[in-house]
Amino acid sequence: MSSLLAPLLLCSLLLAGLANNDHPFFTDCPTNTNYTRGSAFQANLDALLSSLPAAAAASSGFAENVTGAAPDQAYGLAQCRADVNASACRACLDASVKDITSQCPGQKSAMLGYEDCLLRHSNASFIRALDVSVVQYWWNPKTQDATQPAQFNSTLGTLMSNLTETAAYASPRMFAAGSVVLTPFVNIYGMAQCTRDIAKDDCYSCLVTAVTTIPTCCNGKQGGRVIYRTCSIRFEVYPFYNARAAEPAMSPAPAPVSGPINGGDHSVPGSAGESKSPPGNTGDSRSPPVFRAP
Ligand SMILES: *[C@@H]1O[C@H](CO)[C@@H](O)[C@H](O)[C@H]1NC(C)=O
Ligand SMILES: *[C@@H]1O[C@H](CO)[C@@H](O)[C@H](O)[C@H]1NC(C)=O
Ligand SMILES: *[C@@H]1O[C@H](CO)[C@@H](O)[C@H](O)[C@H]1NC(C)=O
Ligand SMILES: *[C@@H]1O[C@H](CO)[C@@H](O)[C@H](O)[C@H]1NC(C)=O
Ligand SMILES: *[C@@H]1O[C@H](CO)[C@@H](O)[C@H](O)[C@H]1NC(C)=O
Ligand SMILES: *[C@@H]1O[C@H](CO)[C@@H](O)[C@H](O)[C@H]1NC(C)=O
Repeated sequence: MSSLLAPLLLCSLLLAGLANNDHPFFTDCPTNTNYTRGSAFQANLDALLSSLPAAAAASSGFAENVTGAAPDQAYGLAQCRADVNASACRACLDASVKDITSQCPGQKSAMLGYEDCLLRHSNASFIRALDVSVVQYWWNPKTQDATQPAQFNSTLGTLMSNLTETAAYASPRMFAAGSVVLTPFVNIYGMAQCTRDIAKDDCYSCLVTAVTTIPTCCNGKQGGRVIYRTCSIRFEVYPFYNARAAEPAMSPAPAPVSGPINGGDHSVPGSAGESKSPPGNTGDSRSPPVFRAP
């Protein structure tokens, strides 16, 4: 990880509310960028936020926009997880617009991340810029520690490098989800995604940074997440994404998703809480993993 961009570690206990799909689990609002009420910037921000949710829901879950003229321009980006359908996407982003004004009142720059979507805005242009300056991570306290940490680490590493490659270079939506067999009774499920404005190589680099954070975040844990402004990863020993929707969403030529997409990735028992982990080390071993379709 670059020492020039020493990440600001913002880790907090979030035992309640993480599974609540209506509650942001990633909140990034620096309080040194206040705008003046009734200013030109606020008008531009309001216009931006009023159009982003519909724009993203209407275009496969991603929209970016700039409103106004310098020096009062407002830049924004809205994105839904690629396995989330348009109506759930819209609902998540509508809620995020309400939340961002209450959670980060008066801030020119802010970002909120939810299960289904993320919303980010700023007075400074951030579009297409890789950003690993802020990280938040959690391990999942509802799952036990891995019984064979070395094997878990090695199998997880293989899964996450596959997902990193796929999200960065093979998926137009910069999203990958998949699972790998750990034991005959346990699979590891993983997900990797980037904000779709950044370049493929930057997506790759962001995800590699996120995967490299796993030992710090979640050493020996069977579930965890690492979230940067421009990418995020998650792994669990239970399915937490919509496999049917994920497959077309990550293929090079996404087939139109017809018919209702079943939920099922938001109400899995065990996803209710996650918390910060202590740092530590782990061993390593090799065992050939078997990939499965997502
Ligand atoms: C910006 O506004 C927030 C919320 O009202 C406040 O907590 C913070 O102190 C303000 N910061 C500055 C630099 O004025
Ligand atoms: C950008 O925002 C403006 C103001 O809300 C809106 O009129 C315009 O349609 C938006 N553009 C895109 C591409 O969403
Ligand atoms: C954004 O706002 C901050 C805080 O008011 C200011 O320091 C910065 O120069 C602004 N950036 C741009 C590009 O206008
Ligand atoms: C596995 O452990 C090694 C050695 O501690 C570490 O470098 C690597 O990042 C770990 N991999 C994962 C996926 O946690
Ligand atoms: C990832 O795993 C899938 C499923 O086995 C495989 O088809 C794909 O080629 C792998 N991709 C990379 C980049 O390793
Ligand atoms: C969209 O996804 C949500 C949550 O998974 C589900 O409840 C809803 O039925 C889906 N709607 C459509 C139109 O597919």
